[in-house]
Amino acid sequence: NAMLSWQRTAYHFQPEHNWMNDPNGPLFHKGWYHLFYQYNPYSAVWGNITWGHAVSKDLIHWLYLPFAMVPDHWYDFNGVWTGSATILPDGQIVMLYTGNTVDGVQVQCLAYPANLSDPLLLDWIKYPGNPVLVPPPGIGVEDFRDPTTAWLSPDRDRWRITIGSKVNQTGISIVYETVDFKSYELLDGVLHGVPGTGMWECVDFYPISMTEANWRDTSVNIRDIKHVLKASVKDLTSDYYALGTYNPFENKWTPDDQELDVGIGLRYDYGKYYASKTFFDQNKKRRILWGWIKETDNEADDIMKGWASVQSIPRTIVFDKKTGSNILQWPVTEVEDLRSEVVEFNSVKLGPGSIAPLEVDTASQLDIVALFDIDKDAVEETVEADVVYNCPTNGGAANRGKLGPFGIVVLADETLSEGTPIYFYAIKGASGEVETHFCADELRSSKAPEVDRVVYGSKVPVLNGEKYSLRSLVDHSIVESFAQGGRTVITSRIYPTKVINGASRVFLFNNATGVNVTASVKIWKMDSANIRHFPFDRL
Ligand code: FRU
Repeated sequence: NAMLSWQRTAYHFQPEHNWMNDPNGPLFHKGWYHLFYQYNPYSAVWGNITWGHAVSKDLIHWLYLPFAMVPDHWYDFNGVWTGSATILPDGQIVMLYTGNTVDGVQVQCLAYPANLSDPLLLDWIKYPGNPVLVPPPGIGVEDFRDPTTAWLSPDRDRWRITIGSKVNQTGISIVYETVDFKSYELLDGVLHGVPGTGMWECVDFYPISMTEANWRDTSVNIRDIKHVLKASVKDLTSDYYALGTYNPFENKWTPDDQELDVGIGLRYDYGKYYASKTFFDQNKKRRILWGWIKETDNEADDIMKGWASVQSIPRTIVFDKKTGSNILQWPVTEVEDLRSEVVEFNSVKLGPGSIAPLEVDTASQLDIVALFDIDKDAVEETVEADVVYNCPTNGGAANRGKLGPFGIVVLADETLSEGTPIYFYAIKGASGEVETHFCADELRSSKAPEVDRVVYGSKVPVLNGEKYSLRSLVDHSIVESFAQGGRTVITSRIYPTKVINGASRVFLFNNATGVNVTASVKIWKMDSANIRHFPFDRL
């Protein structure tokens, strides 16, 4: 089926066949980035969870390696579930993961490379004393999973990890201390908990510098940093984060803003994105985020295509010094090496209700950067009393307001019968403040039956003097869109049917009724990444 094979991505990481979910244990070792991932070797649906393994020199081109770990012990017989790597000061690598036991109990297990001098880290040894942790009293046997990377305690002689769970409907993160990763002590209380959020999966916890480029590793805790706490909130299938302060002496993390707490406030991504994990890249001194992009079609189609899910393009994470209240996510600069031909469109004038096709052929692999200026006087004069806007519930790009929507349409056919608008929607409330929303409208993204058709998005801070800016990475059936340098991010998982075989188009549009928009756009064609098996036979 030509359509299903066209949907396979060209520069996102995905296995050759079958099912993938969470990224696991990312790390950099002896010149190679390692990515492990939840993988089903036998089918395009979840099950038989095994650790797939791939390596890369640049986070873009990948070589598949043999499985790192398979479910072959009583303590992980029902799955080698999600885990994280810790690199110790002497270079040792510790891997902690969740085993789903033969009885369906979630336990934590230790593994380490058989041979640290092997840059490919091909062989992994499961510690013979596994499991190293079983669910403590008061924690359900199915509510105890996904250990984090370890960080050092204040006196730097012990390691700490946190593990997500829930008590009743309160999502929590509990903390253990260890010296040797074999025996552990549960610390009193919880690192954090938020009532009503349910099970926290894949918790992530890391420092972020408020002053400099993000060079600090997981264990620092000094004055110019904040700590990010992220939970994959199972009931909402979304990754929520918050900025806050960590007090290691009290085993407590406190959000900067109670109203933007974990699970009720900010999300990494307002589209299809889950079970993410960061690691500190000691090679380039930056923190990198990986996330799982799940399918939104049905299982039968996944079985027909023979694969399900991709990983996002890895993103660097830094603190947003300008707002002070969010992080910035941006595709790793290495992805720009895939840029080839570029076309530019400067100062395109878009009156209210206009649409402009952009001449780009074979528009299925693109990197698009667009800046929009709106008519300041018109904004000044606009009065919209008590207007509220919410991307998911306000009808998408067809719903016209005075100051929005305006943006781009990607993966569109000639007649725009199919296409995905990525847009800004500004509103001016009674207070006179302009509030901007960033949305991705998938209502007309596909003519296929049984795929999700929704509008994603949320607010995005646009500061005085800033233009509206967006960047979208288009890769066949994935569009990752970043607003205002990565303050708000939306990943679209879409299934175009009309645009296969090079017929896809890009448009600019302004569907606002009360404002002129001027757009400047740069569009690069993106080469395909090289993603294949490690050439052992040629060594
Ligand atoms: C998140 C998750 C984890 C678990 C893994 C199992 O998607 O449910 O909590 O470890 O997937 O594959």
